Formats: sequence, C-alpha cells, structure tokens
Amino acid sequence: MKVIRTVSELNGLTRELRGQGRTIGLVPTMGALHAGHLSLMRHAREDNDVVVASVFVNPTQFNNPDDLRTYPRTEQADCELMEQAGVDYAFIPSVEEIYPEPDTRIFPLGPVAEVMEGAMRPGHFNGVAQIVSKLFSMTNAHRAYFGEKDYQQIAVIRRMVQLENFDIEIVPCPIVREPDGLALSSRNVRLTPEQRSIAPAIHRALEQSTAMAATKSVEQVKQWVKDTIESTDGLTTEYYEIVDGITMQPITEWNRSACPIGCVTVYCGDVRLIDNIKYFK
Ligand code: PAF
Repeated sequence: MKVIRTVSELNGLTRELRGQGRTIGLVPTMGALHAGHLSLMRHAREDNDVVVASVFVNPTQFNNPDDLRTYPRTEQADCELMEQAGVDYAFIPSVEEIYPEPDTRIFPLGPVAEVMEGAMRPGHFNGVAQIVSKLFSMTNAHRAYFGEKDYQQIAVIRRMVQLENFDIEIVPCPIVREPDGLALSSRNVRLTPEQRSIAPAIHRALEQSTAMAATKSVEQVKQWVKDTIESTDGLTTEYYEIVDGITMQPITEWNRSACPIGCVTVYCGDVRLIDNIKYFK
C-alpha cells in the first residue's frame, strides 16, 4: 500500500489508472478505523481493480469545536489496517492540502439535509458535501462506499452527486455491530466501561420496535422507542424519527413502499451515538 499526501499525485495517478480502463473504488473515512470501515474496504476490494481509501478529519463538517478537537486520530494503526484490508492507495492529506483556501461553496441540498442530523448539526451536511465532492474529483473513482450507520449522510451524498453530475456509483454497506448489538463507531472508544455496558440498549430498543409496526401507529412506536431508551439510566435521546428511506422526511403512516427507517441519536454521557433500523425488512 502506498501513502499519498498530495492532491496532485493522487489526481495524476488515478487519472492514469482510469485511462488504462481500471476501475477505482473509493472509501472515504475520517480514520480511527474499525471493522465497519474494513468491511467497506473489503466490498471495494471485491468490486474494483484499484482501492483508494482516504483518511481526513474534515474540519468543515464539525459544528462543535470540541468534537473536532477530541476526534480520535490514529494514523499508524489506520495504515496497518488499510494494508490488511487490501487498500492500494491511502490518501492522507493535511488540512492545508485539501483547503488551500476556505471552501465557500453552499450546496442546495434541500429537504433531505434539513431534518434530523441536518437540524441538530447546522452546516454539517454542507461540510460533508464539500469534502466528498472534492474527494470524488480528486480520486476519479467509479464507485464510493459508505456505511449505512450514517444513513442520512448517504441520502445527502446522493443529492450532491445529482447536483454536481458526478459519474459515480454510491454503494451503501450494512451496519457492522458488536456481538451485543452496538453499532461500530469511531466514537465508541470514548465510552467509559460503564457507558459501554449500557449503550447496546439503543439497538435492542430499535430491534424490538420493528415487531410493533404491525399493530401500533408510527407515533406510538416512536414514543415507545424514546421511552425505552431513556428508561436506561445514562442514555438521553436527542431525536428518534421514522422517515421515508429515500426522502428522509418523517412519515405519519406505515407505508411499506416508503422503506421506512427509524433514525436515532442518543447521548451516552457526552458521547453522541447514532443508529438506525429498517422497518419491514
Ligand atoms: O462518514 C464519515 O466518516 C465522513 O462524514 C466522511 C464521509 C468520510 C466525510 O468526511
């Protein structure tokens, strides 16, 4: 695996590879890699001739300076894991390399980016659109792989792709969970042992709620999930929404064809955890 730190080297190399007819799969990450990221890399490895993974803690998508400051940075361990996962090129640029001048672009992302994470973290999705659009251009990728834990992020990226006319396939990959159900996240390392022991209650509540969709209204299921999560001392729900799986807009009636998905954000101490569940799988 080769580590690349400059945009010009990455762009030159991937342009040449694409010109030779080789397919390029991109796995964008912010590092602190775990088995969830590795599964994206393995999917990319299976589908493409060349795999590029990026490690970049993107400042423009953080609306909380403390979150940016405390975000785990583990470059050496990340490189070992990427190598094992079969990555060909690890793109690890500096902030100055990506943003030689401030990125002032505002993407008209629309309703998909206005609810849930978009409402709670103003500017977050615009920052994601900025970095992902740059990475798509710089890597000349045919496919890009994203984890379904950040389900709304995938919907936003699809919208950005449409706005910018990128010729790229977005490949969503299933959430990877710990054996007790906790969704893997780079933020999990910040949980104390006690917090770690209560966090699986989030997925348990989501999973149990899927059986209720046959007999209870959307509103009743939403309330039940919030109450059940909050009945665990130490967990506070920021939001639980059941939304249309494509538009991300809240639904009020069950409708199979809308592929409803329940999206939750929970504070476990000061660690913000997100998760989701598909109804009518
Ligand atoms: O999901 C993430 O880790 C980030 O939002 C992404 C897509 C790498 C952009 O910085």
